[in-house]
Amino acid sequence: MAGPTRPAVAAEESAIARLEVLPASEWARTVAGWLIVRLEQRPDLRVCLPTGDTPSPVYAELVAAEWMENASLAGATVVLLDEWLGLAPGDPGRSDVRLEDDLVGQLQGGVRRFARFAVDGPDGAPLAGAALAAAVAAQDAEAEHLDLVLVGIGGNGHVGFNEPGSTPSSPTRAVELEPTTLEGAVARYGAAARPTGGLTLGLDRILAAGEVWLLVTGEHKAAILREALEGPETSACPASFLRRHPRLTVFADAPAARLLAAPGQA
Ligand code: PGA
Repeated sequence: MAGPTRPAVAAEESAIARLEVLPASEWARTVAGWLIVRLEQRPDLRVCLPTGDTPSPVYAELVAAEWMENASLAGATVVLLDEWLGLAPGDPGRSDVRLEDDLVGQLQGGVRRFARFAVDGPDGAPLAGAALAAAVAAQDAEAEHLDLVLVGIGGNGHVGFNEPGSTPSSPTRAVELEPTTLEGAVARYGAAARPTGGLTLGLDRILAAGEVWLLVTGEHKAAILREALEGPETSACPASFLRRHPRLTVFADAPAARLLAAPGQA
């Protein structure tokens, strides 16, 4: 691993266009490099992170950078973007387990705080009713005043678990998930059971952050990325609402960007 590609901070404003199309081989190193810049600018960064196949290679680069370059998240607060309902504590498909395995638990210096949805009752039983509402409210409070939010995009245009039908004012909440999303937990993320639903930071919280990065890789995301960036702003594709954010940067690899009309000028 060659390590993250560190952009020159002085060149930041010109280098970080709204749409960064990168060769697939450079993508993870470049995104990690920008994240390290943000951490250097603000060691107490409050950052919301997603799980999934898209960000995993970025996290591997960050872990390597901690060794090679002293890049540290020790002062950062990491707020988890979403969580499944109906998966037992420790299930490998759980978002908290995955972010722990991919990043937080791999860092020698750790993070200052890792805020996750408290979905388990004292006996490991799933929460419901008022206790679930309290867990949602607690994570929503953790997500106030975020400096930076990283999100991926689902094949159906979701952001976190803001599924189609979500609006820019959708709050942090418990949600029903589409069958494709639920099936993905088992088929793609190795969950031991099919989840029953999810909890997500709302689009309202995501859009209120200081900066938003949309991470997109792979040819299989090309059509939905085109819809998100070049289609109408619509609840049918919640990621399209990210365009409302004044500091949105889309980090796409070339295969994901291949259907865009004008790569580099979204
Ligand atoms: P992926 O998931 O990164 O595993 O493709 C993205 C998403 O569903 O939000």
